[in-house]
Parts: sequence; C-alpha cells; structure tokens
Amino acid sequence: MNETTDNLMEKIQSLAKRRGFIYQGSEIYGGLAGTWDYGPLGVALKNNIKDAWRKKFVSSKSDMYEVDAAILMNPKVWETSGHVAGFSDPLVECPKCKNRFREDQVEDSKKNPGTKDCPNCGTTLGAARQFNMMFATQIGAVQDSSSTVYLRPETAAGMFVNFKNVIDSFHPKLPFGMAQIGKAFRNEITPRDFVFRVREFEQMEIEYFVKPEDWQKYFEYFKDSMLEWMEEVGIDMQKVHELEVAKEDLAHYSDRTIDFEFDFPFGRKELFGLAYRKDFDLGSHSRGSSVDLSYQDEESKSKILPHVIEPSFGVDRSVLALLSSAYAEEEKEGETRSYLKFKPSIAPVICAVSPLLKNKPALVEKAQYVYGMLKSEFGRVMWDDNGNIGKRYRRQDEIGTPWCIVIDFDTLGEDNASFKDTVTVRDRDTGSQKRVPIADLITTIRAELV
Ligand code: GAP
Repeated sequence: MNETTDNLMEKIQSLAKRRGFIYQGSEIYGGLAGTWDYGPLGVALKNNIKDAWRKKFVSSKSDMYEVDAAILMNPKVWETSGHVAGFSDPLVECPKCKNRFREDQVEDSKKNPGTKDCPNCGTTLGAARQFNMMFATQIGAVQDSSSTVYLRPETAAGMFVNFKNVIDSFHPKLPFGMAQIGKAFRNEITPRDFVFRVREFEQMEIEYFVKPEDWQKYFEYFKDSMLEWMEEVGIDMQKVHELEVAKEDLAHYSDRTIDFEFDFPFGRKELFGLAYRKDFDLGSHSRGSSVDLSYQDEESKSKILPHVIEPSFGVDRSVLALLSSAYAEEEKEGETRSYLKFKPSIAPVICAVSPLLKNKPALVEKAQYVYGMLKSEFGRVMWDDNGNIGKRYRRQDEIGTPWCIVIDFDTLGEDNASFKDTVTVRDRDTGSQKRVPIADLITTIRAELV
C-alpha cells in the first residue's frame, strides 16, 4: 500500500461513517473485530445491489428458483460437505506477544530464510496449525457435543439440501438453477480492510444444475453474465481482472474456478468467484443423507446426478467495489469537492428535493408537493432543507445523489411566468442545471433509471 491508496481507503471509510453508510459494529462498546453495521444509506445501497442481482439472475428468468434456507442447519450437512474436516486456514501464533495471523498473509523472514517473523513484535513465529473457520454454537437447552451446530459459512448448502424439494414442487427441466441471498459467517483469523474480509457477511449465490456434458457451455455463459452485471451496476471494469485458479489452489469441491479480482485501494483481491462444482455436492449429500438426489432425465429415460456451476457474489465486497469505483474528487475554486458517481439505478438516494429558502411558506409548500409526488413514485427521495443551497449540494454529492431538485421563485412564476411550475434540476457530476416542468419530472427521472 502506498500513501495515495492508504489515503483513498481512509477517505472512503470516513465518508461511509460520516454520511451513514457503514458504522463500526457495536461501536459504543469499543467495536467487535470483523463486524460492521450498515446505516440507512448502506442499507439502501445493499438493497439496490440485491435488487439488481435478483432482477438479472432470478426474476427475469424462467429457470431460476429462489430459496431462503435457515442459517442453522443439521451439522451433518457440514460434515458431508467437507467443511468440518477441511474449511480451515493455516494459523500461526506469536510465542511472545500471542498475536495470531494467517500464515499465508505473513511475509517470509529476511533474517532467517524458511521462517516467518511476527508482524507485531518481530519474534520468530512457530509452526502453522489448521484453524477451522466455522462458528460453532449450541442448540437447545442441553449442552453436549450432540447439540453443536454451525453458523453457515456459505449459502450454497441451503440450496443443495432443498434440491429435491424444488424438483418435487416445480418439476423443472435441466438446466435450471437455485438462488439464494443471505448471511454467511466465517471466523476469519485476521478480518481486515473495512468490509472486505469480515466475520459476518452476505452472499448472493446461484447453483445452476446442468447435464454433465454441458458444464463448459454454462460456465462460459455465467462468466459473461457476471461481467455484464458488474458493468450494469457501475463497477469500474478497468479494475476487474479474471484469475484462473491454479489446480493446486482449487477448493476441495471444485474442478475449475475463476476468481474475479478487483483493484481495491489496498490491492488486487478477490471480488467474486465462479466455480464448477461437478456433482460433488449432490453426490455427497445423497450419500450423507441416504436420500437419492439424482434427477430423472426424461430425454434419456435415465437417472443422472446433475453437475453444478456456481456463480458466487459477496454483497459487502460489491459495496466496497462500488464505493471505490464511484469515489471522485475535483478541485473547484480552491475547494475540494468529493462525490460518489453512482449510477442512478444503484444510488441510495435518486434525488433530493429542496425549497430554495426554508422560511418562505409558498416555496416550502410547493417543494413538499414535489417531494410527495416523487417519494410515492420512487421511494428513494430525500427532503433536504438544511443549510444553504451550496451546502446541500455538497452533502448530496457526497452520498452520490444524481439530482438535486430546487423549488425557487421562478417555480412560483413570480419573476418570469414562462418558468411557472418548472424546477431547477442540478446534475451531480457536471454541476450543470436545467429547468424541467414538474409535470415531466417522473418521466425524465425514470428514463435515467436503467
Ligand atoms: N459457495 C462458494 C463460496 O462461498 P468463496 O470464494 O469462499 O466461495 C464467495 O466466497 C464470495 O463471498 C467471495 O467471492 C466474496 O465476495 C464473499 N466472501 C467470502 N468471504 C468473505 C469475507 N470473509 N468477508 C466478506 N466477503 C466474503
């Protein structure tokens, strides 16, 4: 990291807190490592991300089935999936200061090649041991080993265990997919980089079931769709890179994985993943549960175990990639203006409505009418009459509001009758203003929300 990138991360994080996107988890108690709380604008941004994902991958498709499975699942699910035995990271502990690190995140020692030094106090670190990242808890009133359950580390399993239910209820033809948005939990050894690596996060995942011979075709299809979606929501595509994961680094269930990496302010890191999970999950859950999860193929009149293509998206990493893509600064009249150039479809607030002066009842009344009209149409509309108009623009720029709508004396037709019932619409990125009839506002804004 260098000074500039460090600085950018700091600016994004401070804006996110100041303006109500993301707060430290349990902040008044000193926080809890690896947890963050989303404020009103963060929730709106996340909802827009999830809506855009649902629209592209689920609601516009006739072969997708969305589920919302319980976070707590029978622990046998995680034994069968291989997570109890193998969902671990290599942990090293400093014998002196007792700090713990993920071994692969500590650089090799320059003094003693073949060893690693504690990044905190410089002492030589001991040998690594495997640390399971699943959070375990107890279910029910009696606490013994049979009551141990886990907070799910990925949403995927909730779809595999409901595969037969969906087939029995809907009789879909192959290929078809299941989708789920929900929380996942990982006891990361070193949570870091704001909401990039956290212990509680949200995933948007698809398990797409195909005939074994078709997997490459659908892998390519989802690779393209994932890239399209990133562009549609406004992720800076110049910063997105595809990484073909080397065979020796593949997860235990995968035969091929592409990581979509993003140039975050702290470096190039995984944003989303696309995996070919073969029949690993349906096969192991068939054996683990003794329930036949094969699919009766009408064409070949035989039973097959479908293979799975899994596009996996993190909501929190989407938020961070969007904040990093949208953050912009410009110098104007000796002042720095910072703004978030979100696409209107993804911006937490589509437009802000203000009366030019808040002590003029006629302006306020007209502005309230315009606000009510837009609010009931778009929902994501803010009333803003705080401070002078320049301050309101700065504030709305910082939260990425594409348009500020001002009701002024011209709206009332006081100075120029031809402007009556028009408002000033000010554009966030250019600062330019134009007059739009109130009657055209909804259609003008709607046309931009693509
Ligand atoms: N079902 C496959 C799976 O879970 P993964 O690569 O471990 O694969 C998928 O996770 C996505 O979930 C990642 O690409 C990332 O966007 C998000 N993710 C994973 N761990 C995360 C963490 N600790 N904090 C925030 N997001 C995380």
